[in-house]
Amino acid sequence: MNERRIGWLKMLLEEARSLNKYDVGVTSERLARKLGVDPSSILKLNSNENLFVPLDFLRSLLKEVVDEVDPRFYPRDERVELEEALAKHLNVDHDQIVLGSGSDQIIELIVHAFLRRGDIVLSIAPTFAIYERATRTGGARYVPVPLREDFSLDVERMLRSVEIERARVLFICSPNNPTANQFPREAVREIVEGFNGLVVLDETYADFARYSTIDLTEEYENLIVLRTFSKVFGIAGLRLGYAVSSVDISSILRERFQMPYAVSSIALRMGIKLLRNVDFIKGRIETLREERAILIRRLKEIDGVQPFSSETNFVLMNLSSVSSDEAYRRLLNRGIIVRNIGRVLNLENCIRVTVAPRPMMERFIKSLRGIIETCV
Ligand SMILES: Cc1ncc(COP(=O)(O)O)c(C=O)c1O
Repeated sequence: MNERRIGWLKMLLEEARSLNKYDVGVTSERLARKLGVDPSSILKLNSNENLFVPLDFLRSLLKEVVDEVDPRFYPRDERVELEEALAKHLNVDHDQIVLGSGSDQIIELIVHAFLRRGDIVLSIAPTFAIYERATRTGGARYVPVPLREDFSLDVERMLRSVEIERARVLFICSPNNPTANQFPREAVREIVEGFNGLVVLDETYADFARYSTIDLTEEYENLIVLRTFSKVFGIAGLRLGYAVSSVDISSILRERFQMPYAVSSIALRMGIKLLRNVDFIKGRIETLREERAILIRRLKEIDGVQPFSSETNFVLMNLSSVSSDEAYRRLLNRGIIVRNIGRVLNLENCIRVTVAPRPMMERFIKSLRGIIETCV
């Protein structure tokens, strides 16, 4: 390669490398190999997947899908069918829906559609790391506004932020990851009313909480609500998410920015089948809520563990007698993968754990208790 090309390439790579890495954590297979155990014995509690939806149930639906799908064709009819089924389920117009390969991909799509180099994006802190990553990837500037110490949304501070007039997009996650609380509907409304740009309200966990703000998309033209099949329906591996907004916004996203075949026929067909089984899924969510309450109660009994209340399928907890690094490492050694969050506002050592069926939670609680007892 000539020197000019080497220099150019170096600059391109350096600029791209300046973005933060998104670490999805160790894989179960890799950890199992390291520990010399069977992968099925690894407890994966770091990505808020939904283990309350039985694998047998999902596999039997998937088998039906496999028998019905003709993979030689691009997905077309199934996309329309899923949009219509979702519209009915959510009580919105099907034109308001944009499907994507997970809500992650829709976040990227929004950035791609509405942000230009140097633009400003407002958000909260702490929150889901992908907003910052997508913003920075798009060359825009990310400005986080901290939550209050009790994890509540500081609407006034947000709307008084010096960047508010120039910001084009504002991300809010409610219920928020990692703090697990849902912000009051009125607070969301105040933000949507007080902000001139687009408000993206990520409701990935809303099915585990008290309410949804999807209905507000009919009232406010600057609101986009994000939802996903990953958590509530238990199909994180198939990648299926969607946005609900005004028809103006959704048609721009769908017709001008989304790739025409962004979601596979398999995922689309699974989505249709899962919506037909929504009552069964609702039952599983009820069980999850009950198990979440039990988990929090049990964690409160351990000295040195302060779990926070949750309106999601995960629980955030602060550790006072062991660092989160140490707890994370020791849990890994026992074949349990949690999310090492570290600092959350003024709390030093936090970990986040997915709520899973009882036997798994028993194993997690026993291990955490053991670790804490040997550390004090
Ligand atoms: C707040 C939040 N938004 C979006 C996502 C991504 O969901 P999906 O699987 O639909 O891409 C996650 C995943 O953990 C999340 O926590």
